[in-house]
Amino acid sequence: MKSIPKTELHLHLEGAAPPAFIAGLAKEKHADISGVFDERGHYAYDDFPHFLQVYEAATSVLKTPEDYARLVTAVTAELAEQGVVYAETFLSPDFCGGGDVSAWRDYVAAMQEAALAVEAQGGPILRGVVTCIRHFGPEKAKRAALCAAETMGDFVTGYGIAGNEMMGRPKDFAWSFDLAREAGLGLTAHAGEWGGPVSVKEAVEDLRVSRIGHGVRAIEDLALVDRLAEDGIVLEVCPGSNIALGLYPKWDRHPVCQLWERGVKVTVSTDDPPFFHTTLSGEYEQLNRAFGWDEEVFAGLNRVAAEAAFCDAATRERVLERLGAAAGQAA
Ligand code: ADE
Ligand code: ZN
Repeated sequence: MKSIPKTELHLHLEGAAPPAFIAGLAKEKHADISGVFDERGHYAYDDFPHFLQVYEAATSVLKTPEDYARLVTAVTAELAEQGVVYAETFLSPDFCGGGDVSAWRDYVAAMQEAALAVEAQGGPILRGVVTCIRHFGPEKAKRAALCAAETMGDFVTGYGIAGNEMMGRPKDFAWSFDLAREAGLGLTAHAGEWGGPVSVKEAVEDLRVSRIGHGVRAIEDLALVDRLAEDGIVLEVCPGSNIALGLYPKWDRHPVCQLWERGVKVTVSTDDPPFFHTTLSGEYEQLNRAFGWDEEVFAGLNRVAAEAAFCDAATRERVLERLGAAAGQAA
């Protein structure tokens, strides 16, 4: 599966940090992050709220724009290893300068420089989707949206919301999404991971997003599934994440195949791969085992992802070419 060229639309930058990278940075900075790792050096957490706490504790060692540039280099190396040709990664001004626009600019400049250096050498193309953190509340989301709008360009191309879906309602964040939409950013929202179908419906209606992060619990309302299919809403599905966090007991019980069979635009991503002991090739292998998905199915999913990507037309064409799916190329 590693050799299949892939796209990944749902990847949290800090959540993709190799544990050794975070441990190394903690050592350099003499930071105490005990409780983040288990005795084998893996990220350790009990449940989703605890996962979010551990995520934030690990992130606390990333202090400067230079730290984030190094993280981009480390993460894109992992993506290259997985055959990823294009990825979008979630970035949070809350973790990068505390929502201050001028500080955020420095972080973006550093991350963009690192990402473009990788791209120039023929490595994965990386774009950034600024995300507010739901459990930090709507006021911080407004600052995140402002940061996104102020830095929109070749690297920052989207806006979204992550964090604890059980806190607040999508409409609380509508102001920040309106700002981002008016700036011209692509929009996505985590929904239907911990919240049920209503959460997905509200994200679509109140935030007017073209993509949903996860969205899998839409399966509990088939009328909603049909509506997602009709409206062409793209789901950034992360099956390994859902299984690791206990949303579904095993791969063949995950609804991704049903959603796909019912005509929903499904894509596959890893979310926070080292936290969930997964890789994108690993996800493909498990989907092949559980549902018999083959190279042709994966090629189709990757084409859907390239078409839903928050990048400019020239980049999309380059991605499609690398996927072997550009106009005129065999499917
Ligand atoms: N932040 C990082 N991973 C997340 C997830 N799976 N859901 C919500 N917020 C997140
Ligand atoms: Zn996520």
